[in-house]
Amino acid sequence: MITLYIDNYAIAPMEREHIDSMMNWGKHDDPMMLCYNFPYRQKEELDAWFKMKTGPWNNRYFSIIREDQTLGYLGLKKIDFRYRVCELGLVINPDFMGYGIGSKVLHLFLRHYFFDLNMSKIKLTVAVANERAQALYKNEGFRQLKKRWVSFEPDVEESLLVDRPHLRKWFGKWQEECYDMILLRSHFVELIRARGES
Ligand SMILES: CC(C)(COP(=O)(O)OP(=O)(O)OC[C@H]1O[C@@H](n2cnc3c(N)ncnc32)[C@H](O)[C@@H]1OP(=O)(O)O)[C@@H](O)C(=O)NCCC(=O)NCCS
Repeated sequence: MITLYIDNYAIAPMEREHIDSMMNWGKHDDPMMLCYNFPYRQKEELDAWFKMKTGPWNNRYFSIIREDQTLGYLGLKKIDFRYRVCELGLVINPDFMGYGIGSKVLHLFLRHYFFDLNMSKIKLTVAVANERAQALYKNEGFRQLKKRWVSFEPDVEESLLVDRPHLRKWFGKWQEECYDMILLRSHFVELIRARGES
């Protein structure tokens, strides 16, 4: 795995030392986004998080780095090397969301994924309520497949969750409405041609 560069950002295979600066990340307040916070402070917690992400043989994680600060990370999960497909995850420090970093990094990374790593498709699941992430993925050519309810582990008082659209309690368990999305290499190639990129 190689390091990719765009503007001032490096997208590098994740190493344990990269995650120390994630302790300074901002915080999401929205109860639906708490799962993207990085609450770990102790060395043992950081070690365990790193191992959980990078340990599985079919996962590959990458840090998004600017001037020695890790501003986000990107995960390829459950890689199926035979059918050349995996699940994508992408998280940016809440303090830096909405500045175009996700778009820039994801586009470069997808070029690498399809054209250098020769993968054939990439899948993900995104919350219906997460409009920013959907905008990002649609801009890269991802298409929506089905909408389905996915189990949701609340980290807040339940009173904060009632009457929220796209969230329900089903047989005593919380669920969130999500889209499955997919991007085929052929769709990505079409998009690149339509944009006049080489
Ligand atoms: C989703 C995420 C990776 C996007 O990265 P980002 O750097 O914040 O996104 P960008 O600034 O590149 O913006 C991406 C698109 O979202 C749009 N957008 C920005 N803020 C938005 C908002 N509040 N609502 C809807 N769309 C929004 C942008 O306009 C842009 O689309 P455009 O280029 O057509 O204008 C990042 O916000 C994040 O880490 N969120 C929390 C974790 C998460 O949701 N991960 C994805 C899970 S599937």
